[in-house]
Amino acid sequence: MINLYPLAWPFLKHLDPEEAHKLALKVLASGFFPKLARPDPPLMGITLWGLPFSNPLGLAAGFDKNAEAPDALLNLGFGFVEVGTVTPAPQPGNPKPRLFRLIEDEAIINRMGFNNDGAVMVRTRLARHKGKPGILGVNLGKNKTTEDAAADYEKGVVLLAPMAGYLVVNISSPNTPGLRALQGRDALSALLGRTRAALKMSMPDKTPPLLVKVAPDLEAQDRKDIADVALANGFDGLIISNTTIARPQGLRSDFRDETGGLSGAPLFQPSTEMLADFYRLTGGKLPLIGVGGVASGADAYAKIRAGASLVQLYSAMIYKGPGIVERIKSELYHLLHRDGFACLADAVGADHR
Ligand SMILES: Cc1cc2nc3c(=O)[nH]c(=O)nc-3n(C[C@H](O)[C@H](O)[C@H](O)COP(=O)(O)O)c2cc1C
Repeated sequence: MINLYPLAWPFLKHLDPEEAHKLALKVLASGFFPKLARPDPPLMGITLWGLPFSNPLGLAAGFDKNAEAPDALLNLGFGFVEVGTVTPAPQPGNPKPRLFRLIEDEAIINRMGFNNDGAVMVRTRLARHKGKPGILGVNLGKNKTTEDAAADYEKGVVLLAPMAGYLVVNISSPNTPGLRALQGRDALSALLGRTRAALKMSMPDKTPPLLVKVAPDLEAQDRKDIADVALANGFDGLIISNTTIARPQGLRSDFRDETGGLSGAPLFQPSTEMLADFYRLTGGKLPLIGVGGVASGADAYAKIRAGASLVQLYSAMIYKGPGIVERIKSELYHLLHRDGFACLADAVGADHR
């Protein structure tokens, strides 16, 4: 694929970040990008939960919150795309500005606050994808003013499970008050129990896998609790991680003290360490999706060796453009080949052996 992004970037970086993002989604949704990605070699494939992923690289939640362009995004070469976060009712999110590019740090801070079109609209859009190839995950959240959080996840599951390759219970956004408190042992156990029950009830024959997405700012005890609760409630996987409220030393951008979640390069190390920790805590029994600061094949490979069966990215799409997908996959292929892995699954957790 010819990479025109370096030509577009000097223009894009002067646009308001949210406007630039809207424009990118519009262009993608218009069908302007034909499918140029090459078929993935068998070495890059992995089957999880009965789903055949042709490659392990996915687009993380938040990029296509409303399922406006999932097929065009799959056509860029992603092995899967996660839409959302979707809440039961539509909501506007936080006041603008709420998205900041920390260009010097190859990082983003956002405090979007789950702005989205709501579950009914997203369900209608996803229905158009049904029957087409490509795996779409659906990331679920709660509305800002809902008191009974579990009720919102139940509603999300009932409305969106029939359209989802997999579902994610997102309890890790720093931008919805009280949300991350749901990661504590008792609250999580109750929440996951109710969500799983709602899923079983609404789709008794064949339920999509149910995952939990966690924050990177968890203490050791919280991590252990989450691993135990996820295993005890029959959850199918964990996504590690969301954005961080920490501000690592050395950030240079003037936006570094903006409130919100930090993503991109500075998140790579802490999120990968936490991923390795969760691999140990779950004994490798639960598939993990590694997210945070992935911008190269080496980054993706490090996440896989640390324990990720799949990898996602978001911020690198902003800085490097859509050509990053094919580049990461090609670099990853060469690393797997160099180290003599017969299949991707053999590399998962290799650092622990
Ligand atoms: C602007 C923006 C919006 C996001 N919105 C969501 C969201 O709605 N739900 C969610 O689970 N994660 C959301 N995320 C977090 C990403 O999915 C991902 O976990 C995080 O950005 C780390 O990956 P990265 O370093 O590759 O960007 C958002 C991230 C950004 C930058």
